[in-house]
Amino acid sequence: MNSASAAQKKTPKQALSATHASGDKRFKMLDATIKRYQYQQDALIEVLHKAQELFGYLESDVLYYVAHSLKLPPSRVYGVATFYHLFSLAPSGAHTCVVCTGTACYVKGAQTILTELEKSARIHAGETTPDSQLSLLTARCLGACGIAPAVVFDGKVLGNQTAESVCEWLRHCFAERN
Ligand code: FES
Repeated sequence: MNSASAAQKKTPKQALSATHASGDKRFKMLDATIKRYQYQQDALIEVLHKAQELFGYLESDVLYYVAHSLKLPPSRVYGVATFYHLFSLAPSGAHTCVVCTGTACYVKGAQTILTELEKSARIHAGETTPDSQLSLLTARCLGACGIAPAVVFDGKVLGNQTAESVCEWLRHCFAERN
């Protein structure tokens, strides 16, 4: 390292390089994906998908790394990561609950279910409880409109849900930690 660069203030990108140099193989795997897309900025969503698959969620170091690799402004990468529901900027809880708020589910009371869940878990949609037990998410349509309102508990789609049935599941979920 020359003295000029050493004298520079450490930027997030440089902090990232250090993470990469530390030998975390996941960055190498992410590099392979970025290379496969030939560093095209249009591949941002695909690259973020891969990053989430590798890291579990998109922490800021990873977002900076992607921005640096694709030569995109971090604000653009952060904007895309926060716009799409499928990307998570925080680690998921031990349990996940996805409430469908698509039209069919909305008409059949999805909003009541969501409000009740938010009240019981004391978090808003898109958040995880401070004890990391529950992540509450929403989706626009799960493709299960025939059994609306639909909710996904830990990856299992359940139909014809009510605020009561969902809260019962929540109680069960919180009882496990005691
Ligand atoms: S709108 Fe909820 S499953 Fe389609």
